[in-house]
Amino acid sequence: MMEKTSRKTAKSGEDALMNSPFRKALMSATVIVLTAFATVATVRQTAARSLPAWSAAWTTASAAYFIPSLFLSSSGFPASALSGRGNSSAGAESPAPRHRLSSIGHLPSAVVEGKSRKAAASAALPEAEQTERSVTEKAARWPYARPWIIAHRGVSMRAPENTLAAFDLALREGADFIELDVRRSRDGRLVVIHDATVDRTTDGKGRVADLSWDVLSRLDAGSWFDSAFVGQPLPLLEEVLDRYAGKIGLLVELKDPDAEDELAALLTARGLREGVENRLIVQSFHPESMRRLRNLLPQLQIGVLIGQSARKPSEKDLDRFAQFADFINVRLDMADARLVERIHRRGALTLVWTVRHSVEVGPLLEAGVDGIVTDDPALVPRERE
Ligand code: G3P
Ligand code: CA
Repeated sequence: MMEKTSRKTAKSGEDALMNSPFRKALMSATVIVLTAFATVATVRQTAARSLPAWSAAWTTASAAYFIPSLFLSSSGFPASALSGRGNSSAGAESPAPRHRLSSIGHLPSAVVEGKSRKAAASAALPEAEQTERSVTEKAARWPYARPWIIAHRGVSMRAPENTLAAFDLALREGADFIELDVRRSRDGRLVVIHDATVDRTTDGKGRVADLSWDVLSRLDAGSWFDSAFVGQPLPLLEEVLDRYAGKIGLLVELKDPDAEDELAALLTARGLREGVENRLIVQSFHPESMRRLRNLLPQLQIGVLIGQSARKPSEKDLDRFAQFADFINVRLDMADARLVERIHRRGALTLVWTVRHSVEVGPLLEAGVDGIVTDDPALVPRERE
């Protein structure tokens, strides 16, 4: 009897303690401490793994809710007190911790968990292997064996550069891509020509930007190279797209840094907004122009060219370019294994220009470049993988 009475007294003392302001204050303090801990841990993890902001926010919110609730639930504290739903009085249903944890799956956490698993799996790999894997995955989206063979301005060693004759030859010779240069005429047409003036490669004179398409279209862009090519016209970009898109890859270099709107309109009108599907890359020496184009056509493949100065790109340069470029393409004399690795580490591929002698090919293969831009595709051996 005495034992029964003292058990009863102890029980009511326990109840009083559980419902006392002291106990509530203790529980609140626990929640705050655990929430702070979860937030700090998540922010550190985010910085280390560069999770997107929304993902980090969700992970933080999940941790802030579920860790304390799991802990408090196992010590008898109702979860509804944390969520604000219901009240903390006796009898309020507190779902089992297991059930509450599984509810993470109803929200974007499926993606978060997938990413975390992927990140955890890659984190286990050495950095070089991770880099190799991501570059291989990226290159595997394209139907070409690496290094790709890219005919520079067409097969410009044997036909007049940037003409249909040079592009047709590239197609016949089995190049993977044609590289071509684009400038805007006075009346806003996108014309395929390398130099700022027509002087070197046509029978005319003057700046492309000062001449109308009516004048440009009547120039001879073949006879300067060889009499066999007399009468080759300057092509328009739209003609090149209509003639070659889908048959061979196109690496379009936009020479004018402010012609993105015209280019985007042209590609959109032809249903060529998607880069890999249409085997279409647009590149430029002007990174900000390519950033704008990326914003206009997010599905296009974008390249930044490096090599107008002798300076190799800094880590900061590469980080900046990799934010919007799929390719960081470098000048032949800069391309070594170290630079290729630095580009690959940022998830970008690299196409190197311009090979004019067969002895230049070996070192590029050794360095692991993804594509070779050459005046003559015959210089690059086919059996290369
Ligand atoms: O593909 C890059 C290369 O074409 C850049 O140099 O002067 O030949 O246009 P450039
Ligand atoms: Ca070019």
